[in-house]
Amino acid sequence: MSDVTSQERSPLPSAAATDPDLANVVSNIRSTPVEADETIAKEAAASATIVCVANQKGGVGKTTTTVSLAAAIAGFGARVLLVDLDPQGNATTGVGLRAEEGDPSTYHVLVDDLPVADAAVTSAIDGLEVVRSSLDLAGAEVELVPAFSREHRLKRSLEVVSRDYDLIFIDCPPSLGLLTINALVAADQILVPIQCEYYALEGLGQLLRTIELVGENLNRELKLGGVVLTMYDGRTNLSQAVVDEVRGHFGDGAFATVIPRTVRLSEAPSFGQPITEFDPQSRGARAYQRLAREVAVRLALPVELPSETALDRLLSGRDPHPSTAEAEDAP
Ligand SMILES: Nc1ncnc2c1ncn2[C@@H]1O[C@H](COP(=O)(O)OP(=O)(O)O)[C@@H](O)[C@H]1O
Ligand SMILES: [Mg+2]
Repeated sequence: MSDVTSQERSPLPSAAATDPDLANVVSNIRSTPVEADETIAKEAAASATIVCVANQKGGVGKTTTTVSLAAAIAGFGARVLLVDLDPQGNATTGVGLRAEEGDPSTYHVLVDDLPVADAAVTSAIDGLEVVRSSLDLAGAEVELVPAFSREHRLKRSLEVVSRDYDLIFIDCPPSLGLLTINALVAADQILVPIQCEYYALEGLGQLLRTIELVGENLNRELKLGGVVLTMYDGRTNLSQAVVDEVRGHFGDGAFATVIPRTVRLSEAPSFGQPITEFDPQSRGARAYQRLAREVAVRLALPVELPSETALDRLLSGRDPHPSTAEAEDAP
């Protein structure tokens, strides 16, 4: 580490320089209760907390985070519904399901007013139900344009089943179009995954301004539930620089758990299993378990959390300085 390259000296484009409003927008939105507050606890007892996982950038870990958290929190005993709102359907296949043409899916819920209760299917994971998506959902973005109350369609549909679940996760597509707006209008909280890579904060200002606009105009309940740092690679200064920069902006709004970049996490989708099922002892699974605990506590979900060992904490990725003995790609 004697040779300090220019990239190591300044590994990130300064978010403040590229986006002078970022700090302002963050402070406006951060009315988030970091500790679980009473209001949420009361509502949680009666109806589901709706959480959307959004970031208009693709490949930042939205789907991996949604699927892993949904499975882990179902494992805590919560009744969880996962709504796949991305035409790519990665959350659907990520839990081992698929929707053929004509199968009830998010498309039919949004466009044809199919009740969610008729669209939800059980998954191989106890306590986890799924509203699947398929490619025809891409058309919904256009088909909904002239529709009545087009931004509120998902919200209306989910309200009906809200008492059937403790938690509803919505996996958003990589855009800020009508589908994501529907998710933001339906949601109580938004989780934003941020990849620990160069340009991690690019586009974040636009996302936060969208959240602010939706909050002012369409959904006053919407809160920034937290930022999830994903694909952390302890071997690079860059990953740590992103963690520091995000923590600088969001403070406790960023979850303590940092998700490591691991091969097992990238393999799990092709087996149609969330990481917590695919390889429960892997570092990725432990990190998402730990994040699931944080989310469950923040949302005051009515679940009993399993006790956590010191080993879990150590392996969970909570400590963003993993020892060099632990190779990042180790399972
Ligand atoms: N922590 C991680 N470590 C390694 N690979 C990951 C990790 N998180 C996600 N991936 C992989 O990166 C790709 C993009 O992740 P994904 O969750 O689909 O992002 P998004 O939904 O934001 O597009 C997928 O192939 C996924 O398996
Ligand atoms: Mg995705």
